[in-house]
Amino acid sequence: MDKVVQVRDKRFRVSITADELNEAVTKVAQRINEDYAGKKPMFIVVLNGAFMFASDLLKKIELPCTMSCVKLSSYEGMCTTGKVREMIGISGDLEGKDVIIIEDIVDTGTTMHGLLPKLRAKGVASVEICSLLHKPEALLFDDAKPKYIALNIPNDFIIGYGLDYDGEARNLPEIYTLMKE
Ligand code: IMP
Ligand code: MG
Repeated sequence: MDKVVQVRDKRFRVSITADELNEAVTKVAQRINEDYAGKKPMFIVVLNGAFMFASDLLKKIELPCTMSCVKLSSYEGMCTTGKVREMIGISGDLEGKDVIIIEDIVDTGTTMHGLLPKLRAKGVASVEICSLLHKPEALLFDDAKPKYIALNIPNDFIIGYGLDYDGEARNLPEIYTLMKE
């Protein structure tokens, strides 16, 4: 029997196991290690959702690198609000840096579409998106398509491994999908 969890008023069924996540994160880290050989990338972690992915990914990065966190939000409850708010700014100089954004999921792309110009305005040498998950069917902005994607998923609401439902379930080590009752 698949694992089912109840979070607030909703039930979710496990859809990506911890082992599958680990394998997918390892593959993405290997690609970054190869593509950025000889460089010193700066990782920008999008809080809160990407904290668990970033922690696991960065342990597999074998390059000299720096990291900084940014807090943005375009989501409330279970649908995107369409607005991007910057809450905690990026510390440190971005001029000439090869930036890799670490995101939990690119859904409509609103968040990344809003963040990319802000980073480019700071004079970065390059900027790419590395997202744990991507919902290709939901994407509205072409520039928000991540170069590095650990796993593509269908257009369903999911939780776990950093992703929340109204603030809960970020601690779950697997990804769970909303059950259609
Ligand atoms: P976007 O701006 O529509 O691409 O949405 C991006 C943000 O919404 C992500 O960084 C997540 O924090 C959140 N999000 C998108 N889809 C889901 C989901 O299925 N579950 C939980 N959070 C999500
Ligand atoms: Mg997020």
